[in-house]
Amino acid sequence: MNAADFAIRTLGPATLPSPLLRGDPEASEHVMVEEGDAVLVDDSLREVRALLAAGRELPCLERAGPRHKLFFRPERVTLGVVTCGGLCPGLNNVLRSLVMTAVHHYGVRRILGFRYGYRGLVDPDGHVELTPQVVAEIHAQGGSILASSRGRQDTGQMLDGLQRLGVDVLFVIGGDGSMHGALDLATEIARRGLAIGVVGIPKTIDNDLCFMDQTFGFQTAMAKAVEAIDCAHREAQGAPNGIGLVKLMGRHSGFIACQATVASGRPNFTLVPEQPFRLEGAGGFLAALQRRLASRGSACVVVAEGAGQDLLSGNGNGTERDASGNVRLKDIGTYLAEKIHAHFAAQDIEINLKYIDPSYIIRSVPANAADAVFCSALGMHAVHAGLCGKTEMLVGVWHRHLVHVPIRQVIASRNVVDLGSTLWRSVLGATGQPPRMT
Ligand code: F6P
Repeated sequence: MNAADFAIRTLGPATLPSPLLRGDPEASEHVMVEEGDAVLVDDSLREVRALLAAGRELPCLERAGPRHKLFFRPERVTLGVVTCGGLCPGLNNVLRSLVMTAVHHYGVRRILGFRYGYRGLVDPDGHVELTPQVVAEIHAQGGSILASSRGRQDTGQMLDGLQRLGVDVLFVIGGDGSMHGALDLATEIARRGLAIGVVGIPKTIDNDLCFMDQTFGFQTAMAKAVEAIDCAHREAQGAPNGIGLVKLMGRHSGFIACQATVASGRPNFTLVPEQPFRLEGAGGFLAALQRRLASRGSACVVVAEGAGQDLLSGNGNGTERDASGNVRLKDIGTYLAEKIHAHFAAQDIEINLKYIDPSYIIRSVPANAADAVFCSALGMHAVHAGLCGKTEMLVGVWHRHLVHVPIRQVIASRNVVDLGSTLWRSVLGATGQPPRMT
């Protein structure tokens, strides 16, 4: 990890006075962020000491927030915003915050919203004008008023579209795949020598973006998942040898499954992509489930959609991809249900399995209160960054500070549940499941 890897690109020197504090005697100077304000990437004393002892520069993330000087003149600027990838709670909250901040704090007069993700950039009729009136009530709705889509568009054509409309800053609200597209766009902008900013806002219920304490939408999705787990638990307790099985989203990362498990305290087994498991044999999942039923008479099982994919690999898994380039997963939920039924039927043991797949319900709901506050902060800080000329970066929270993170760092790898972490230990503690079922 080098300090230079976290430097934030700018479109040029910011020389124009910000209107932010003008005419507001109540506003306090200390909300303004000085260039050079930063937080440590690794804030452990041991790491800091080691880097200093080695004479190395400390890798830092630039602090997000309003600056005294802007790159763009707000009243002449055109902002664009696009929501990409799968839906996520809080999309409308971010849109609302962006528009309200740009218009009310800075006096921006033109904001375009692109419809259906990146498709809106290549479609001449793919945009709508966003005003405070348009966005005033949208935060109460799930989904995105701009709608979204997966998949890439030709980078050159997207940039042609932005140029045609005179867009100065594009805000991309998306996850991993969308940020790859945003990076391509920023690279092409630089190649053409244009002064168009690209600012990302970290969206995904999977919570798998690097250098982000959390992505927006995750908290809401997790809270909704808890409801499903609680229902599964009730169902399991409501019948002899009841088994409540819940499948939750989480393609590569089991954060929703883990955190919802800890929050609800109900599951007896939580299966995630990060921890391989076996079904058969004395040490496998089915034997452990049988022991649980024998001792307690019911069981609640949570499985993340990306878990146990190796068990299904004989079915051609790994070849088909969705429009974002993600491998299409096989259905571990129904597969587990079948295997559980077969396992107990073979021994003539009665079970009552209730399978719950809340599926898209956990991500199409409106943001909860915690996510709403978070989305508001992200939208606001994205505008601060964009008007200062920051580009090729995302706003996000790192060690509880709002910061700027280069897109490249965010997508360099993926956050997954660390099996040595407190989170996974908490899952093992809450469920009582064997640490290994292999
Ligand atoms: O990336 C977010 C997410 O909700 C994943 O958890 C899930 O695997 C995926 O999107 C499903 O999205 P879709 O069916 O819209 O492609």
